[in-house]
Amino acid sequence: MSKDVKTFGAKDLNKEVCCIVGTRPGIVMFAPIIHELKKQGVPFFVVHTGQHYSPNMDSDFFRDLDLPQPEYRVEGVSDHSTHGGQTSVMLAGIEKALMERRPALVMVGGDANTNLAGALAARKLNMMVAHVESGNRSYDWRMPEEHNRVIIDHISDLLFASDDMAMDILEKEAIHGRKIKTGNTIVDASLQNLEIAMEKSTAINDLGLTVGEYGLMTAHREENVDKKDVLENLLSGVSSAAVDLNIPVVFLAHPRTQKRLKEFGLNEWAQSLPNLTIREPAGYLDFIRLLKGAKIFFTDSGGGQQEACIHHCPCVTTRNTSEWPDTIKVGANRLAGNDPELIRSQAKMAIAQDNNWDIPFGDGTAAKQIVEACVEALESPPRIGIQPDEMQELKTAL
Ligand code: UD1
Ligand code: UDP
Repeated sequence: MSKDVKTFGAKDLNKEVCCIVGTRPGIVMFAPIIHELKKQGVPFFVVHTGQHYSPNMDSDFFRDLDLPQPEYRVEGVSDHSTHGGQTSVMLAGIEKALMERRPALVMVGGDANTNLAGALAARKLNMMVAHVESGNRSYDWRMPEEHNRVIIDHISDLLFASDDMAMDILEKEAIHGRKIKTGNTIVDASLQNLEIAMEKSTAINDLGLTVGEYGLMTAHREENVDKKDVLENLLSGVSSAAVDLNIPVVFLAHPRTQKRLKEFGLNEWAQSLPNLTIREPAGYLDFIRLLKGAKIFFTDSGGGQQEACIHHCPCVTTRNTSEWPDTIKVGANRLAGNDPELIRSQAKMAIAQDNNWDIPFGDGTAAKQIVEACVEALESPPRIGIQPDEMQELKTAL
């Protein structure tokens, strides 16, 4: 093959699947898929983009979820803090791994920069792109994740949607790829690991908490934590809500948020807020154990909103929009933005209601359906538009 090859034809590719991971939620989302690929004997390998790298955002999850080590790891991403810088290093690193292994299908999951880089690298090499958790929208263009989702969906051949709403969005945006409603693998991961977490995790005792008598919090969204006044509002709002409810709230602070608290000189202030304790992020098993035992969850996390719904813990989302409107529809979730008064009032209403809602995004079989669809696509690829191989034929015909 020529050294200056820029893309591949279908016959140059191996019937192998590449899974792109690199962030905490991506590892959780891919865990059931990786286990299912193994179970069904589908050849696969994992590329880690290096976007998340601290042990409590990365290796602890490989351990808790019993995952094999990635075969490829992109270096140098943490030296970059801009979206473009980060994405470009990941794009180049992923491309190198893909050119070496030449998988026919590359799977990305969710909306982080990792996934945009993976989808772009694969598209440019003419490998099939599969997007897990496609069709979600917040319609909030302040969010880098919204840009990523829209772009990834439009360049994917296979689109795995969590629910009817996501399927509708894919239809309305006239997205070409093969669309399949599978449910979300976060349900699979939760169901596969809850019993293990209940057995193994000592987090509730370790934190001196009592089941049903504490709240949990996470926050990491750029639009929530990168501005001092917004972050102050958020933390004082949750603290006041905790005082109203007469419970302690444990805030598992994402490294981004820890960095901002320090930069803004807010550490001491935050630590002195009543009923709020700031801790390091928890491992996956500890996290789902803590969520299962919590009275209420305050979060701006996408996965967190879903998991609160799955584990029947009332959720107050500290954002103005949600990509998971079904969680709101079934009564599991309420939007509060970062207005302290709204956080307090939504928290009171959240705990006052019945939490026997249905889980709207799957029954724990998403990974099985996704892997079956990938196997089918390897045999009979969806054809979206003119393919690079066909361009040659077209030129010859003209
Ligand atoms: C990213 C995703 C976001 C996802 C979140 C999950 C994008 C645009 N954002 O946001 O969609 O919800 O991951 O957690 O892709 N840091 C560490 N250790 C780590 C990781 C990050 O210290 O392991 C610190 C670094 O200072 C880094 C900052 O956190 O600069 C932000 O990390 P980054 O990956 O850029 O964005 P997240 O906020 O994690
Ligand atoms: N999570 C965890 N420990 C924590 C906080 C979150 O294990 O302290 C897990 C949680 O189970 C969920 C995932 O991290 O599946 C969500 O990731 P995050 O909130 O970072 O990203 P998002 O889902 O918003 O993209």
